Amino acid sequence: MKKLLALMLALLMVFAFCGCGEEAVEENTEVKVLTMGTNAAFPPYEMVDENGAIIGIDAEIAAAIAEKMGMTLEIKDMAFDSLITAVSSGAVDVVLAGMTVTEERMEAVNFSESYATGIQVVIVTEDSEIATIEDLAGKKIGVQTGTTGDIYCSGDYGEEAIARYDNGAIAVQALQNGQVDCVVIDNEPAKAFVEANEGLKILETEYITENYAAAIAKENTELLEAFNAALAELQADGTIDAIIGKYIKAE
Ligand code: ARG
Repeated sequence: MKKLLALMLALLMVFAFCGCGEEAVEENTEVKVLTMGTNAAFPPYEMVDENGAIIGIDAEIAAAIAEKMGMTLEIKDMAFDSLITAVSSGAVDVVLAGMTVTEERMEAVNFSESYATGIQVVIVTEDSEIATIEDLAGKKIGVQTGTTGDIYCSGDYGEEAIARYDNGAIAVQALQNGQVDCVVIDNEPAKAFVEANEGLKILETEYITENYAAAIAKENTELLEAFNAALAELQADGTIDAIIGKYIKAE
C-alpha cells in the first residue's frame, strides 16, 4: 500500500513537471505574426493565384524577412490608396506593394532600404498616335488611384487629363474600350498586362525611375531596424535576387 502511494505520488509529480515544462516551451516558441498590407493586383510583385493565395515578389520577400525575424507572415489585401493609413494606424505592421519611396509618403511613414526599382511607363494601343511622352499632352490618361503614376500625371497634365481606376488591370480594360488614350503604370505590371491583352504596347520612352521599399509606421523603429537587418542579410546571400529572378526574367 505504501509502495503504491509512493508510486502514485511520483507519477503525479512527473505529470506536474511535464505540464510545467510544456507550458514553458509553448511560451518560448509562440511565433509572432508579421502582418503585411498590399494591393494584390500588381503582377509580378503581388497577385492572387488560382487558389486565392497572394503570391509574387513582395509576398516572397516579406515571407523571407519574417522568417529571418522569427515571425510568420500574414498578408492583407486592400485598396492601394488605403495602405499608408493602414500601416501608420497600426492596422498592418508593414506594407510591401511595389510601393515607391516619395517625399510625401515619407511624411507619414518610414521606408526600409530599397529592394527593387520600378519605372513608370506608358501603355498605348498598337495603333496609337502617341509615340513619345511629349504626345501625352491633351490626352486622357488612365492610372491606378493614389499611385505615383496618378500623382505625377495629375501634376504634369492636370486633373481633367486623369481617369482613376481601382487597379491597373481595370485601367488597361478602359484603354482597350477606348475610354482612355493611354495608361501610366510601373514597367513590370505593364509588361504583364500587355502580355495578357491583345493589341497593346509599351512606349520606348520611360517616364520616371523610382525605388520600391517597405513602409513601416514612424513609431515602429524597432521593426524598421530588424526589417533592414534581415533585408541586408537576404541581399548579401542572394535570396532577394533569386526571388526577383524567379518572377522577372532578365532580358
Ligand atoms: N510604384 C507605384 C507607387 O508606389 C505603384 C504601386 C502600385 N502597387 C500595387 N500593389 N498596386 O505608387
